[in-house]
Amino acid sequence: MSIARGRFITLEGGEGAGKSTQARRIAEALRGQGREVVLTREPGGSPRAEKIREAILSGLIAPLGPTAEAMMFTAARIDHLDHTIRPALARGAWVVCDRFADSTRAYQGALGDLDPRFIRSLERIAIGPNIPDLTIMVDIPADVGMARASQRRDGAPDRFEAEGPAFHEALRRSFLEIAASEPGRCVVVSGAQEPDVVAQAIWSAVEARLLAAGEPAAKVGKPESTAPKRRRAAVSKTGAP
Ligand code: TMP
Repeated sequence: MSIARGRFITLEGGEGAGKSTQARRIAEALRGQGREVVLTREPGGSPRAEKIREAILSGLIAPLGPTAEAMMFTAARIDHLDHTIRPALARGAWVVCDRFADSTRAYQGALGDLDPRFIRSLERIAIGPNIPDLTIMVDIPADVGMARASQRRDGAPDRFEAEGPAFHEALRRSFLEIAASEPGRCVVVSGAQEPDVVAQAIWSAVEARLLAAGEPAAKVGKPESTAPKRRRAAVSKTGAP
């Protein structure tokens, strides 16, 4: 008997949008339904890709320029797909990934004069048919996100947090443009709301887009209490319903 392929969900957005908290909550809600879930992240998600993450975020690769940086993210993605994502999907697990290829489009696109066709070819080569089934764009005003990110940070800002406000505004526009251009894959959720409200909005999207009608809804209210405090700090209520 063949095993049904799992589903692939990615969360995207700028700094301080709350993606990581929400990724954990989706994973917990899906596990609560008895599904196997692999919660992972980019850059990283496999031992070699985590090493590449360290190199990129420490700023070691930045002097090589945006082209090399985009290639490093892609190299990490290839390893992550080979060793974590594809095997999980093949055995029927659901994969919830904190950032994926849209981050390369947005961040590396916003950073330098990279030809979008170059970024798209890297993407095609690296991910092939492994396009996410659903991408949640957690949208937040850049200044609100940056304030949150600096509040939760322990040490110095990393390679990308250290970029200026114009960069973070460009990122936000870029993520929203991606969502508008691929409405079949992407759903935009405002991250400038209480985490419970954000979680509910995301869960509605997962149910509507991926879960068959009639399947039991998971509880999304509970997992938040287990989230580390630094991920829950400084929630803005702007845009809250
Ligand atoms: P984060 O996991 O804490 O969000 O950190 C990852 C950083 O790397 C974040 O600033 C976004 C950036 N990034 C890129 O620039 N390109 C990419 O393709 C990915 C996956 C992340």
